[in-house]
Amino acid sequence: MKSLNRLVSEKALKLGNSFPCQICVVGILCGICLTSLFLAALTSLGTFELAAFSFSASSSAFLPYNSNSHIINMVSSIDRKLKWTNKAETEDNDDQVKLLVSAWDNLLLNNEDFLKKLEMNKSDVPNAPHFENCEVKSRVRERLDTRIANQTFPTWISGGDEENYPLTRIVQSEIWSHQHPLDCENETVKFLVADWETLSIYGYGAQITAMTGLLAIAINENRVLVANYYNRADHDGCKGSSRGSWSCYFLPETSEECRKRAFAVARKREAWKSGIVTGKQNYSSKVIWGGPIPKLWGKPWNYMKPTTDINGSLISRHRKMDRRWWRAQAVRYLMIFQTEYTCGLMNAARNTAFGKEAAEIVISAGDWRKKNKKKKIRTEIEEQVWSNHKPWIPRPMLSVHVRMGDKACEMRVAAIEEYMRLADRIKDRFPELNKIWLSTEMKEVVDKSKDYGHWRFY
Ligand SMILES: *[C@@H]1O[C@H](CO)[C@@H](O)[C@H](O)[C@H]1NC(C)=O
Ligand SMILES: *[C@@H]1O[C@H](CO)[C@@H](O)[C@H](O)[C@H]1NC(C)=O
Ligand SMILES: *[C@@H]1O[C@H](CO)[C@@H](O)[C@H](O)[C@H]1NC(C)=O
Ligand SMILES: *[C@@H]1O[C@H](CO)[C@@H](O)[C@H](O)[C@H]1NC(C)=O
Ligand SMILES: *[C@@H]1O[C@H](CO)[C@@H](O)[C@H](O)[C@H]1NC(C)=O
Repeated sequence: MKSLNRLVSEKALKLGNSFPCQICVVGILCGICLTSLFLAALTSLGTFELAAFSFSASSSAFLPYNSNSHIINMVSSIDRKLKWTNKAETEDNDDQVKLLVSAWDNLLLNNEDFLKKLEMNKSDVPNAPHFENCEVKSRVRERLDTRIANQTFPTWISGGDEENYPLTRIVQSEIWSHQHPLDCENETVKFLVADWETLSIYGYGAQITAMTGLLAIAINENRVLVANYYNRADHDGCKGSSRGSWSCYFLPETSEECRKRAFAVARKREAWKSGIVTGKQNYSSKVIWGGPIPKLWGKPWNYMKPTTDINGSLISRHRKMDRRWWRAQAVRYLMIFQTEYTCGLMNAARNTAFGKEAAEIVISAGDWRKKNKKKKIRTEIEEQVWSNHKPWIPRPMLSVHVRMGDKACEMRVAAIEEYMRLADRIKDRFPELNKIWLSTEMKEVVDKSKDYGHWRFY
């Protein structure tokens, strides 16, 4: 048995490290074993620690999958391999890609067992170009969200002024200062305390829109806006005090100190009477949804140059440009700093959407398992310079949001065919474009997207 193992290992190493490949070798060498092997694999779902596999340790064969369905898939792919024993290069590559994507998945889940099975250390897994380092990022974000003596804000706007909406730097800085008074205990500080909209007819877009209106009121009345209960954060993913709060997803709109003080003040009747604190009930919904926007910054929307192409004509002016400008600023403020939790959700989502492509890129640069045996040492300056890079996504990518459903009561909804006609127009100009990020609430839109084979949909 020992010599057989050695023989198998050698053959397997020559053929490559992929698991199906080794099975294939075993198959060639001991035909009949195979049937029982498969049965064993099928019955011991989840773990592949079968005696028959001991040979594989030396060539680090491992099992990328830990769910039952995957194992079944895998067995069927082994089956396929057995029929066509001279494996194609690309198939071997497929296994590596799958393995790497699941290594990344398990890294996100912090599943050490998985890596142990692969006999790998965390640091051996190649850098995922589509991940953000959430731990580092959230440390930086928290520091940026803290007032430091004499520091001018914001230090966090990326891109030049001409790459942002007019006055973004100054407006973001001043909203931040407004929401973070130097001394919240000062009795002259006034508050607007409001829950997020919770009616079930509101999606989160509507909830955010309403909050941008409340922020406008707060600034116009020189109040600190304190947002309270947020129903979409009322779940187990949001731990501790972030449960039921915007701060589960983004750093909160005001400081902890102001928040505490606002809630203390709101418990006092006189504070309501004297107007130190107000709530949603003090404002009509007309004012919340469509009231005047802050006038502190003039009319920057007047020098915005719209570049919206709608069905063949260039739109040079929008209605309510002032409101759009304000909403953009307010949304940016509310969502400026992701929490570590949100960062993790985004990493997981990017791995689902782009993991395969990212793995293909990494693998095309060489066998990652061999390469990573060499210790990689990064210098501080590399870490520093590279830390600002945004996570990789496939580019160019066209974002298409096909809105249907209940939106029909507000506007004429367009079918996907119309969007795709527009997409093709853009492609005429930018022929390298072939990817679409499709967001929609209608399954039929997703189904229909399959008719557009010359586009790759995400
Ligand atoms: C993992 O890292 C530790 C310490 O860096 C090292 O001692 C160990 O041999 C490594 N294990 C593997 C499988 O590379
Ligand atoms: C902040 O500015 C004031 C006056 O401009 C100065 O006296 C003080 O030393 C500065 N503090 C720091 C930490 O730079
Ligand atoms: C409170 O703020 C006002 C206005 O900013 C200021 O004039 C006053 O001195 C502050 N009071 C205290 C006790 O700091
Ligand atoms: C806000 O509404 C409360 C009652 O809900 C009322 O007592 C208070 O006077 C109102 N404040 C203002 C400034 O209108
Ligand atoms: C866009 O233009 C086409 C042809 O000119 C027309 O049939 C269609 O109704 C237009 N769609 C919209 C949304 O205006």
